[in-house]
Amino acid sequence: MHQVVARSTAAEPLLKVSNLSRHFPVGAHRVVKAVEQVSFEIAAGETLCIVGESGSGKSTLGRLVVGLDVPTGGAVTFAGHDCQPKRGRSGGRGPIQLIFQDPYASLNARHRVSDALAEVVRIHRPAIGEAAVSARVDELLVQVGLSPRDGMKYPHQFSGGQRQRICIARALAADPRFIVCDEPTSALDVSVQAQILNLIKLLQREQQLTYLFISHNLAVVYHIADAVGVMYLGRLVEMGRKHAVFGQPTHPYTRMLLNAVPKLERSPDAALAANGEIASAIAPPPGCAFHPRCPLADARCAREIPQMLAQPNGTFAACHAAEERRLPF
Ligand SMILES: Nc1ncnc2c1ncn2[C@@H]1O[C@H](COP(=O)(O)OP(=O)(O)OP(=O)(O)O)[C@@H](O)[C@H]1O
Ligand code: SF4
Ligand SMILES: [Mg+2]
Repeated sequence: MHQVVARSTAAEPLLKVSNLSRHFPVGAHRVVKAVEQVSFEIAAGETLCIVGESGSGKSTLGRLVVGLDVPTGGAVTFAGHDCQPKRGRSGGRGPIQLIFQDPYASLNARHRVSDALAEVVRIHRPAIGEAAVSARVDELLVQVGLSPRDGMKYPHQFSGGQRQRICIARALAADPRFIVCDEPTSALDVSVQAQILNLIKLLQREQQLTYLFISHNLAVVYHIADAVGVMYLGRLVEMGRKHAVFGQPTHPYTRMLLNAVPKLERSPDAALAANGEIASAIAPPPGCAFHPRCPLADARCAREIPQMLAQPNGTFAACHAAEERRLPF
């Protein structure tokens, strides 16, 4: 087996992440390795879902990809160009936008919805006049299932699901090609979650969007993903096409997550559940960080960090037991 960059697909990538790391200083002498040596590629028009327990580095990865945070090391390449992150920007890069978990916190309560959208349209289409800006705002509202009249209202006059629709409209206002969706439905009522997910999928088809979709809900991931990446304490530990990862998971951590939710199709809220506590990102265990929880751990696991390797089922996984062909099935 050769070490290679985990690819979600054989197609030409739109977004490429290479050896991306983000370390946060904690106190005088310690760092949290929130994202460590993460590499992957996403093809145009596809959805890569990132799953992992709380604190595994999913949001930090999303912020790095959008350019809201600066990596400690590594690079993000979009459509063949190196993306230089800029500090202190509230939006994404333009072609790369972000939708957050909490649609209320990310909207300015004092701005009418149409004004908030118009501001973004003016930035990204500077050559068009005010009549065209207002027509574009109406079009955006309709695209997300609202009406042009809703533009006159303020964020507090909408339900949670409608507010997330407004956030999606605001992301679309920047004419993006790529959207990072960070738990976009997890703050919503279960009945509304499916509507928002369906909207996200519909917009992808209509506008050829590419998504990095972060979720701790495996049922949502099963519904929306083309490819899946599993993170553990800042590192990608398994990645591949959805049906391979869900159907024949390689990594013991992926197996543990999936064993906890055996009937995904019928489970409306298959939140991640795994045995044992996730270790601290400040002092991760040496070697394979999963080794204190892993039933297959041996002395090598406690000593040597496993690298992502191509597996027989087409996924990539970072596991010594997989490399040594001593997985139980
Ligand atoms: N600005 C920061 N300063 C210091 N530590 C941070 C900062 N942002 C994130 N971290 C730490 O980095 C690690 C990863 O955090 P992150 O928010 O990316 O995880 P996550 O997978 O999104 O978790 P959740 O599922 O809870 O949203 C955590 O240990 C977190 O405490
Ligand atoms: S490298 Fe070792 S400890 Fe880590 S998942 Fe594989 S078998 Fe378990
Ligand atoms: Mg998060």
